[in-house]
Order: sequence, then structure tokens, then C-alpha cells
Amino acid sequence: MKTKDAIAKAILPDANQAQTQAKGSAFAPSNIALIKYWGKRNETLHLPVTNSLSVSLGHLGCHTVCGHSDSPELQVIHNKAPADPSSPLHQGILKYFHLLGLNPNHCQINIDMNIPMAAGVASSACGFAALICALNDWHGWGLNQRELSILARLGSGSACRSLWQGFVEWERGEREDGMDSYASPLTTQWDDLCVGIVQTSTESKPIGSREAMRQTMATSKLYQQWSAQVIKDLTNMKAALQKKDFEAFGSIAESNAIAMHATMLDATPPIDYSNELTKCVKEQILQLRQDGVLCYFTQDAGPNVKILFLKKDTTHIEQIFSKILIAHPFKSG
Ligand code: PMV
Repeated sequence: MKTKDAIAKAILPDANQAQTQAKGSAFAPSNIALIKYWGKRNETLHLPVTNSLSVSLGHLGCHTVCGHSDSPELQVIHNKAPADPSSPLHQGILKYFHLLGLNPNHCQINIDMNIPMAAGVASSACGFAALICALNDWHGWGLNQRELSILARLGSGSACRSLWQGFVEWERGEREDGMDSYASPLTTQWDDLCVGIVQTSTESKPIGSREAMRQTMATSKLYQQWSAQVIKDLTNMKAALQKKDFEAFGSIAESNAIAMHATMLDATPPIDYSNELTKCVKEQILQLRQDGVLCYFTQDAGPNVKILFLKKDTTHIEQIFSKILIAHPFKSG
């Protein structure tokens, strides 16, 4: 079986060909899956059991700058503050440098994120996507988007979708080495689409997605059913996108998220990412819908709730959820 570093080596140009600049920088948006990725066919290479489809969050994401540092060790600055070398962020970057075969010494990585980390708002996705693009810029590797998507995937699966704005599909691929498992953007634009994030906790998640996926696949009786459902949901979602049928779009995304969480609840021991506030927000959304406001929820591996709605309902949504953070995936500028 291929290892991650062997895959990275196959993609990266020879170190002698690299044209390192003074600095490299990149922005990558956070992405929220509408049709979720939950389960790996290869754990080491982060190869998924099914395709998945996401929407990127416009200006919400991660801006990363890489450059030389006088300090002999890797320095990671997160939102203007030095990250502790023992922190998961610092350790995660160090591991990623090693898998890319890069020397982390004398490197400084500046990360600015405008989304909360580790609470199910896909911070690792935009983090790894921004990092690989900034490294590509810094070292002048000249990699294309597909190669960057594969390398981002090696950091965190869903990161391979954060290379683009808009709707993005990640192909599961068939190959064992994962060279055909990458994302690509869809052409559909949906100017009125809004994604709201309601933060219900600032704490780190009790169980990471990696372990939770493993536990679900190994023990949930619903897993087979889930992976078959994803294929149907994906087909129906693409049809809804083509027709810009918001009711179908929202219902498919919502039921896909409910099915993913049901599969986790069926695991042994059960995995429940929701807290009391999560449940309360979801009930409020169902109530709003009964009152005639078309809005739907989705939830990832964390307690925060994302709300899908159309621009015309913004005031109404803001009145109910006063602290909501709203992304406009298709707004330019
Ligand atoms: O890429 P990971 O390991 O953070 O897993 C992401 C899993 C979900 O966010 C729950 C679903 C998805 O497709 O993003």
C-alpha cells in the first residue's frame, strides 16, 4: 500500500527545481458539505467511500502566509498569537511538513482564520487548503488545482474541496493510490444563497472526525444504508441545483445530515455531536419552516448548526438568531 509521503513525493517537483520566493500566501474558503463525506475506503490516504458535495463560504476561511524565520524551529502564529508547539495546530502542521518531505526549521507560518476552530466549522479543511497553496506559492512549485486538491486531501479529507469557491464535488475515485480522488468545481451559481453559522459551543469536539468515522464504519448497522443513500442524495441534489429548486436543495441537504448523524448515533458507543443548544436551534428552524420561512439546517462533526436560506429571508433569520455569522457563497468582492 502507498504511504502518504510516497504520494506527496510523486506530485511534488524535485527540490532542486523549486524557486523559493521570500514569502508565499494564499486564502482558502471554509466549505460546508451538503452531501456529506463520512467514512473512508482507505484511512491512511483519506480516500472516501462515497463522493461528496459542498458549498464554499466566500470570505469565511483561512489566509496563510509562509516565509523564512530566524528562529531555528517552526513558528506558527495563529490569529496574531504564537501557537504553543504542543498544540494540535502546531503539531498538525509539523506532521504535514514531514509528509511533504519539507524541513520545518526556520519556517514561519502565519494563519489568520475568521471562523471558529475545531467546532465543526471546517477549520481544518480551509487550513490545509490555504497551507498547501501558500507553500506552492512560496516554493514556486507551479502545481495545478487538481494536484493541490490531492495534497490538501492528505492533510484532511474535506480540505480537497476548499480549493474553490461555489459548489464543489469530491470524486471518491477508484485507484488505490488515490490519484483520481480529488475535487472539482461545479458551474452552478446561486447568487441568493446564504449559509448562516450558529455557534452553539466554543469547545473542541469530544471526538475527532477521524476516530468517529472509524467507529461508525466498524459498528453502525446503518452504515451500508448510509453509503447507498449518499449516491441517491447526490443525484437528487445535482438535479435540484440545476433547477435552483431551493425546497428540494434544502430538504436533501437536511435529510443527508440527519442520516449521517443517525448513523453515528447507531455506533457503539454512540457518537452524539449535538448539545442542548444544537437541538434547540434545529427545532427553531423546523418551526420557522412551519411559519412559512424556507430554511434548512445541516450539521457536521461538531455541535454548531449551519442554516441554508435565501437572501430575502435574511432579516427574519437574523431576528431569530441574533449572533448568526452569515456567508454569501456567490457574492463577489
Ligand atoms: O475532513 P474531515 O476529516 O474533517 O471530515 C469531515 C467530515 C464532515 O465535515 C462531517 C463531512 C464533510 O463532508 O465535510
